[in-house]
Order: sequence, then structure tokens, then C-alpha cells
Amino acid sequence: MGKGYYISKHLATAAMVLAAIALVTIIALSVVYNREKSKNAAKFTNATTSPVPPTPKTSNEPWDKYRLPDTLSPEYYNVTLWPRLVKNVNGMYIFTGISGVMFTCVKKTDLILIHSNKLNLTLFKGHHAKLTGQSGVTAPAIKTTWFQTEKQYLVIQLEGKLKPGKSYWLYTEFTGELADDLEGFYRSEYMEDGEKKIIAITQMQATYARKAFPCFDEPGMKAVFHITLIHDLETTALSNIMGLEQHENDILTRTIFGPTKKMSTYLVAFVVSDFKYISAKDKKGVRIWARKKAIEDGQGDYALKITQPILEFFEKYYNTSYPLSKSDQIALPDFNSGAMENWGLVTYRETALLYDPRTSANGNKQRIATVVSHELAHMWFGNLVTLKWWNDLWLNEGFASYVEYLGADYAEPNWNMKDQTILYDLQRAFAVDSLTSSHPLSRKKEEVNTPSEISEMFSTISYSKGAAVLKMLSEFLTEPVFAKGLGNYLKQFAFGSSVHSDLWDHLQKAVDQTPGVKLPYSVHEIMNRWILQMGFPVITIDTRTGNVSQKHFLLEPDYVVKHHHCNITFPDPLKTLLISLTAVLNLSYEWFVPIKWMKKHQVQDQLWLLQKSALHKPMKVSKDEWVLANLHVSGYFRVNYDLGNWERLLSQLESDHQVIPVVNRAQILDDAFNLARASIINITLALRTTKYLLHEREYIPWEAALRNLNYFFQLFDRSEVYGAMQAYLKKQVKPLFEYFGIISSNWTTVASGHTDQFTQIIALSLACSTGVEGCRELTRSWFKKWMQNPHNNTIHPNLRSTVYCDAIAAGGTEEWNFGWQMFQKATVAAEAVKLRSALACTKVPWLLNRYLEYTMNPEKIRKQDATSTIGYIASNIIGQPLAWDFVRANWDYFFKLYGTGSFTFSRLISDVTYRFCTPFELSQLKRFQKDNAETGFGSGTQALQQAIEKTTAKIKWLAENKEPVLQWFLSESP
Ligand code: BES
Ligand code: ZN
Repeated sequence: MGKGYYISKHLATAAMVLAAIALVTIIALSVVYNREKSKNAAKFTNATTSPVPPTPKTSNEPWDKYRLPDTLSPEYYNVTLWPRLVKNVNGMYIFTGISGVMFTCVKKTDLILIHSNKLNLTLFKGHHAKLTGQSGVTAPAIKTTWFQTEKQYLVIQLEGKLKPGKSYWLYTEFTGELADDLEGFYRSEYMEDGEKKIIAITQMQATYARKAFPCFDEPGMKAVFHITLIHDLETTALSNIMGLEQHENDILTRTIFGPTKKMSTYLVAFVVSDFKYISAKDKKGVRIWARKKAIEDGQGDYALKITQPILEFFEKYYNTSYPLSKSDQIALPDFNSGAMENWGLVTYRETALLYDPRTSANGNKQRIATVVSHELAHMWFGNLVTLKWWNDLWLNEGFASYVEYLGADYAEPNWNMKDQTILYDLQRAFAVDSLTSSHPLSRKKEEVNTPSEISEMFSTISYSKGAAVLKMLSEFLTEPVFAKGLGNYLKQFAFGSSVHSDLWDHLQKAVDQTPGVKLPYSVHEIMNRWILQMGFPVITIDTRTGNVSQKHFLLEPDYVVKHHHCNITFPDPLKTLLISLTAVLNLSYEWFVPIKWMKKHQVQDQLWLLQKSALHKPMKVSKDEWVLANLHVSGYFRVNYDLGNWERLLSQLESDHQVIPVVNRAQILDDAFNLARASIINITLALRTTKYLLHEREYIPWEAALRNLNYFFQLFDRSEVYGAMQAYLKKQVKPLFEYFGIISSNWTTVASGHTDQFTQIIALSLACSTGVEGCRELTRSWFKKWMQNPHNNTIHPNLRSTVYCDAIAAGGTEEWNFGWQMFQKATVAAEAVKLRSALACTKVPWLLNRYLEYTMNPEKIRKQDATSTIGYIASNIIGQPLAWDFVRANWDYFFKLYGTGSFTFSRLISDVTYRFCTPFELSQLKRFQKDNAETGFGSGTQALQQAIEKTTAKIKWLAENKEPVLQWFLSESP
């Protein structure tokens, strides 16, 4: 062998290592590249970042797909339903129905797929339906009919083909269970005058119309509905429109509702009850319905007062008159969500519609105004024009969540409603959108298929981020331009359906027609950055140079979620390399950011940040000035500054905080705390933003502070930081407590301003929880007085939640039992909620355990309230481990009951894991994920991922920050 070929062993090893590194790098780079490519594709096309999950089964038959084929199009339905409000011989509540649907064939086919779930269909000559042709056309004979239960279809296969352009009539007869499951056509029960009453009601959204009658149950499949209800003489039937005719015999009434407008199945509603209503002589046909007692008690009066003005507001705002001739609002004792925008017959939880001035708090009143406003906003946006498929749900719910503040502000102009969006939408959205496990607002339609996936679309991101980015859009377009485009969009698609880019088109047109408005890019281009990529930027302003830059804000930048992008699993060293490469190449994304800002001595200004970073000279300021960006918090981003500017803002807050707008004071607090949580600024800087609170009297900054401090309570109430923190907060809240003591004549009245009343509640609860002298004595004496005279509760409604919780926490069995009795007797739903949540405040473990058991018994705790009750218990330091054990022990039960529903299930998961912050808790959480991998997490899948990520972030943050936090509180305590 020639020596030219000789290579030393060391060299060979080195070469191999190098080659391996190169290979690894190439693979890593290509993975990163592909990831970025799909991200970029997502930015500029209509794609989103997460890909379609691989379809497991191979079948390509139409009935194995969740989406209906485009071969048939419904025209109208004739549906007759007869709910039985007494048990049948088998001890069941049922309804019977007959239904026909006229549909047109669009494409030649020998197959009819129609949704039908849990209905028992009558057989005609061995088939579950009858088919006839219209206007002289003969329909092909039915070959076979069967159920595809997973996809919830009745499958009808025909001997011959249906002809394009021709119409057919499909007829079915069926029975269904009128269960208490809060879905489809279901029953609700309540006690009145010692008698059990039963009513029949509906909840169709999103996929439950198919549980009431067979239908083409997709939002884009609009049709006209003729509904007829058969019911007892002494009951009333309601539906989307006014009853046309009533026929009675000796025992039954048949109420016939005429043709509706063209509408989606998920907006159909009907109710049979003996409820009463109130109405005013108005042109909109507004009525408020509820239990007879509640109406006689005047609990519907407030809703009646605001409904018509809000409808009128939206008519003006949308530049479109209310499309229907009546508007019923009905309060239901059992209702899963807060309210539902059925067209013309809006259904509500009792707490979201009924107000009793003697027992309800002003917060309850505000809730009613915003819920009514939200649902009425849908009457146009969502109902008149409907998004074709659930992937665009964020636009429907985000839009209503934005404009609900405009409608409520119109009805209650002194409530400062518009400012409150930053607490209830922007900051709420930030909290989940700063996690790697967040997701983009917009999804591809192929990504949303199963009922669980549809339910999961009803997320904080859809509602709150949706509202926040639409508010930003409306503000940079200016409201007149936004409203103009909106009105034209509604005109073009009225009684039809659309996709989100249709709205962008109309807004762009409105921009083009308005000379004053200039945008750096089109509405499409700007908005795509906000809706197609997840997360939001933190804008960093260096006032020494005037440099402005943006970066994706993440609480835990190193956290990697298991990406479903690549199915290859990498060994750990490779994963590390991959992550560092992503970081080195700085592949985070960018937004087009409209930044409104002000200087200390100068009025506001606006700039667009269109790159990663840019020099903006006016932002370079001298030493006695400061810059404040995101003025009035109109933008969906956080702001960070150079330290000098932070210091100047802090001293401004301490010397004269009023120079800074109220919402910006809240923003400074919330941004600072979250920048600190993400280790971008020092935690002591964030803590120092709370020092000026000594002088603060406004609600919004206090609420923002309280939330961030509550987060601290959760982290530290099991550690030595707690004492020092209590001492500091006690000092901070004392002036506020004393201030309200004076203006309320020693707590005998409440403040006059609406939001001042909220601040008063904060003052009382924080003062009591931190042990301000005199506070607990007050609350406990009030409660004792009530216990001594149960028929005369003199505690002010606003203060009840705080007082009840405090007294039950301090007390024992006697206080708890009293609270439980009062809960069972409560005739106002808002009062019942206050007690239900206060009962979770006890520190006695066996009481908490028994209370947990009650959540599985609908006679004690209604199904609609079970998961939130568990959530209340979990927020109690003693209750937390009990609730966690309870949920795990009964996982199958809860999954079966709530696993595919919206809201409830994801909230249950986030509530019971909310306090987690130790490595042990994290390992339990991961174990839980593994143990239940087979059952799955249904509509709570994302909530679980978020819980794991949040816990991981907290553990890491605590390790680094616990000591400085302790030291700071010690140095600031008296
Ligand atoms: N369309 C929803 C109700 C809904 C949610 C139905 C999830 C089915 C699944 C309604 O418009 C809504 O958003 N209601 C909110 C109240 C609103 C004021 C935010 C709710 O139920 O909490
Ligand atoms: Zn809504």
C-alpha cells in the first residue's frame, strides 16, 4: 500500500467527526429551512404554521370525511317537533319529530349525506328516509341507508343519479332524547313554588343542530326554516321568528313559525316553556323572557332598558337595519356557555341577562350589558353574514368581542367601557399568546374538522386576540373608514357567507376611497402578519439613539413544543444544535406595527415599524424627557425601553401619574411584569412600577396590578417571600382602603362612579387579605349579622363576593353550612354564583372534598356550573391539591361529559393546574399527559400544552428570581 494513502488514525477520527457535524448541520439547517419556508409561505399565502395532521384511515369515501361534499345544496326545511316534558314509561324524556328538506342537486351524484346524531329514525320500507323529486322530476330509488356514526352522517345511497339543477325532497321521522346534556334539543329543570318545572330548549352551535333534526349542518349551508312546535296548552313556544299561527285542541297547541330568512343551522333555536316576558313599545320587537318569578321580581328590567338602544347603535354602526322583526332575549336555568346569538332568539345564562338591583353587584350589571351587546353584534356580523367554515371563527367571535364594548359604551356612556378592553382582551390574549404553544388566529380550513377541533376554536386567542387586532385595525384605519368597509361587506354578503379576506377586500376599498388615509402596505399584507403567525412583538425603544426594533415576545424562548412538522425524532444533542441554530440565525418573524406614541412635553405622533429595526430620530430624547409608546394601548404589542427611559417613566409615575393616560399606566405595569417574567428586564424594575400605587385611585391600573400581584401570590404563598410581600402590599393598599372608608361613610355606602365601585372592591379585598387593621373585623361582623338574621342581608351587593369568601375562609362548618343553605335558597342567579364561589374559600379539607363530590351531582351543582366550581376550589391554596386529585381520579367521567364541548373543558384543565410552579408538579402534569394519552384531552388539548409550558417557565423563573424578589419586598416593607 503506498504511503500516499496513509492517514493517521487521529486524523481519520477527526475527519469523521467533522463529517458527522457537517451532516448534522445540514439536516438541522434543512429542518430549520423547511420550518421557515412553511412559516413564510404562511405569511404570504393563506397557509398557517401548523400543517394538516396526517389522515389516519385510508378510506377516501365521502362519508369518511368530516366535510359535506359540494354536490347538494339545501333550500328549505319543514321541521315539526314535539318535546315531552314528562318522563315516558322508560323513565326517559324524549321528543319526536318529522322533518323534510328541499335541496337542489349541484353536481351529479348517487349519494346523499346529511348530518344526524343520536336520533332514532323511523324506517320506511327498510330505509331511514323517503326521497321524492320536485316539479315532475322522479327521484332515483334508495338503494340503502345507514349511519356513519363517527362522522355523524345518515348515508343514503341511491340506485340512480340525482340531476344537477333539479330539486328533491328528503323526508324523515324520528325520536330523540330530551336529555339534560346542554346540547342540541335538551331540557332544563328548576323549582318554582315547590314544584319541579321542565322546559325544552336548544343549543345548536357548533355541531348540535344534527341532534335535533337531520340537516346539512355546516355554517355555509344556509337555508330557510319552517318550524312547528307541538306543546302543552299552558306553555309558550318560541323560535327565531314570530309564530304565524296557533292551532289548539283539548290538550295541545301547535305553533307554526313561518319561513325564516336564509340562515345557518347553528343559529336555529326553539324553546317550549311557561316563562313570562316583558316588552316595551318599540319598533324592534324586543322582549325579555325568564322564569315567571324572575320576571315578576323585575329581574329583566335592566336588560329591557339596554337592548333596544344597543340594537339601534348597531344599526347605525353597520349602516344596515336590523334584519328581523323581533328580538327575544331569554334567560335559561341550564346553559353551557354565557349566551348564544341565535338569530332573533338569543339565549342566555341567567347571570348574563337577569339583574336584581337589591342583590346584584354593579359588576353583574356590566356583565349583562357586555353580553347583550356581544350577542346583538352577531345579529349582523355572524348571522346576516356568516363565515363559511369554523376555521374563520376567530373573525366572528373576535369581531363581536371588539364591538361589544362599543355597544355597551353607547348604552352606558359613563362606564368607561372602551378602556376596559385592555384588561379583558388585550392582556388576556397576551397571557397565552406569549407561549410557544400558542397558535395563529387563522387556520386553514383543512385543519378544522372534528367537533372537538371546532370546539377548540372557541379559544382565548379567537376571542381576545381577535378583538385586540381588530381594534388595532379599526384605529389605524380610523373608525369611519373601518365602519364604511364593514357596511359594504355586510351589504355584499347579506344572507350569504364569506371568508375573512372578503372583509379585508372591503376595508381596502374603503381606504382607497378615502383621501386622508395612507397605509404602508395593503390591509391584506398588514393583517396577514397579525393573523397568520402566532404571537406578538415586543417593541424596544432606545431613547438614547431613537432606535426602534421588534422581536417575537416569548415568556420562555428556550421552550420547544413538540413540533408536528417533522415526524423524525432527533437525538438530544442534535435537538440542542437545532435550537441554537434557530437562535443564531435569528429566524423569528416580523410584523408591520402601527406605533402611536408621545413625549413628555409633546403631543402624540404615529409611526409604522416595518422592519426588524429602524431609526426614528424624534424618539431620541434629552435627559429630562421620556417617551411613552403604544399610546392609549391601541396596538397589540408590548413595549420595552432603555433603562434611562424606564427610570424617567417611573419618576413621572411617582411625581404626577396623571400625565400618563390611565390605560397606559395599566400597560406600564403589565408590560414591566411580563418583560421581567421573560427575563428581558430585571424583576425589581417591574416591582417598582407598583410603588406609585400609593397615589393611584383608578380602576384599570389597580386591576392590572392586582392580576400581576395575584400571580405572585400563587407563586409565593407557600414560601418565605409571602410574609414580606404581604407587608409591602398592606402598606400600598392602606391609603386606598382609608380613602374608600371616608367616601363611603365607613363602608355604609358605595362610591358613585361605576369603575370607582370596582376599585372599592379591590381596596376591601386586598386590605383584608393583607391584614390591614380593621378590615377583617368589618367583613366578618357583616357576615355574622347576616347569619343572625338570614332574612335580612344588609351586605352591599358589590361587596358580597369578598365578604362571603373572607368569612367562610375564616370560619368553619357553621359558616359553610349557612352559605350552602343560602346558596340553595337563592332566587337570583348572580347571588347564587357569589355563594358558590365563596364556598370554595373554606380552609377545611373535608368540606372542600365534599364540595368537590357535589360537582358530580346535578341535584346539588348544576352541570353548567360543575367545572367552574372545581376551578374555584383549585384557586384556594388548600383546595388546589384536592381538586387536582379529584379531577384525575374522575377523569373518564369529566371527559365523557365535557370533553368535546367548548370553553368548559379547556378551562377545567387550566384552572386545576393554574398554581403549578414546582418540578414535582410539572412531573405530575407530564405523567397525567402520558397516562391519558389514549383517552386524549379533546377540546382541552391546547390547554394542557399551555399548562405544561407555563409550569416549566415558572420553575425556571423562580429559581432565578425568588431571592431578588424576597430582598426587594424586605427592603420596601415598613
Ligand atoms: N357564540 C358564542 C356562544 C358559544 C360559545 C356557543 C361556544 C358554542 C360554543 C357567543 O356569541 C359567545 O361568545 N358567548 C360568550 C359571551 C360573550 C360576551 C363573550 C360566552 O358564552 O361566554
Ligand atoms: Zn360570540
